[in-house]
Amino acid sequence: MTSTSTLQAAAGAPAATRYDVQRVRAQFPALAQTIYENKPLVYLDNAATTLKPTPVVDVIAKHYAMEASNIHRGLHYLSERATQAYEGARRRVAGFINAESEAEIIFTSGTTAAINLVALGHEALLRKGDEIVISHMEHHSNIVPWQMLRDRLGVVLKVVPINDDGELILEAYEKMLSPRTRIVSMNYVSNSLGTVNPIKAVVDAARAAGAITLVDAAQAVSTRPVDVQALGCDFLAFSGHKLFGPTGVGVLYGRRERLEAMPPVFGGGDMIANVTFDKTTYNTIPHKFEAGTANIAGVIGLGRAVEYVQALGLGPIAEHEADLLGYATQRLSDVPGVRIIGTAGDKVAIISFIVGDVHAHDVGSILDQDGVAIRAGHHCTQPVMDRFGVPATARASFSIYNTRTDVDALVSAVTKVKDLFG
Ligand SMILES: Cc1ncc(COP(=O)(O)O)c(C=O)c1O
Repeated sequence: MTSTSTLQAAAGAPAATRYDVQRVRAQFPALAQTIYENKPLVYLDNAATTLKPTPVVDVIAKHYAMEASNIHRGLHYLSERATQAYEGARRRVAGFINAESEAEIIFTSGTTAAINLVALGHEALLRKGDEIVISHMEHHSNIVPWQMLRDRLGVVLKVVPINDDGELILEAYEKMLSPRTRIVSMNYVSNSLGTVNPIKAVVDAARAAGAITLVDAAQAVSTRPVDVQALGCDFLAFSGHKLFGPTGVGVLYGRRERLEAMPPVFGGGDMIANVTFDKTTYNTIPHKFEAGTANIAGVIGLGRAVEYVQALGLGPIAEHEADLLGYATQRLSDVPGVRIIGTAGDKVAIISFIVGDVHAHDVGSILDQDGVAIRAGHHCTQPVMDRFGVPATARASFSIYNTRTDVDALVSAVTKVKDLFG
């Protein structure tokens, strides 16, 4: 067992309880650079992807340099080492979300792949007229896979409405559940509004209705402790790259009995027990769902990223980001013409906004010239844009290494937008 203090030292995290943002920043080389004629980089595009700390970059480089080999099938030293590192990451992820067993952790290429895996894995269990419930604030990756099922199978897709603050209307959701509800798939935290959904209540109501639950935790796992047993969900998905880990790797948690009942979706190496031309029997979980050579370095990097976050502590992280959210909300609200979209009572540090009638892309470009990186567009949530009657928003999203100085840089650049466009 690694002690917390060893982990903190390894992660470069503060040993004291006070959150030491400068020590965190020192672990992210990208933040030390200047761009566009000596402007410091102000990275506020964390909901799209986070920067990567040195320990994560190092462990990936070390894997490729020293232990690159295929896992599970090798009888040799390097393969054994890579297998241990890969399976070690699985154990760490299982602990991170409090899965009962590491067999419940399936590595995918990301949240999108994980949701598609659940959708395809349930195709044979669904009948025409069965109902799938999602919300109005889902990312496209939690809309389109279900629409595809709807169009193929004739299942009904129901959408829970949201209010003017961008909050789920829970009473409407509860009324929507019926004996035909088979699957409820909802995000824990909205990537465009920042809303934190009452996900435990959502899961409880779905279970009472006998439905299978999938939680899209892509924006949740870096901002709050997520405990799949306490939530009681059947499935939960997240991506490595939004958690300071590499791109192209993610996690599908599935409750053991659900995974055992679900047929494999991809066939190939590693997912089999025995193959003849007549018949194939499948490997046990989680391997049944991991066909082909995995993203080995990605998984190892994700394991290290999880270790990094655990060392910092999700409590101190949440406190730090709540401070940034409060400060940025107040300062942006003071800029004439700025309208914040997404004003839920429970929010993470994601702020979508518009500046008068300036197009969000123009806002993004002007901010970029000042070294301030934000995202502008529909954020893969076009129905949310429609709900609020805007084509796009600018979105600033804050993370573990951001500071109030970053907020000041954002506000000063937004003020420039106002001045330029009048
Ligand atoms: C809430 C949410 N769900 C799903 C996704 C898709 O994640 P990925 O592109 O890593 O598969 C995102 C990414 O922005 C997201 O924010």
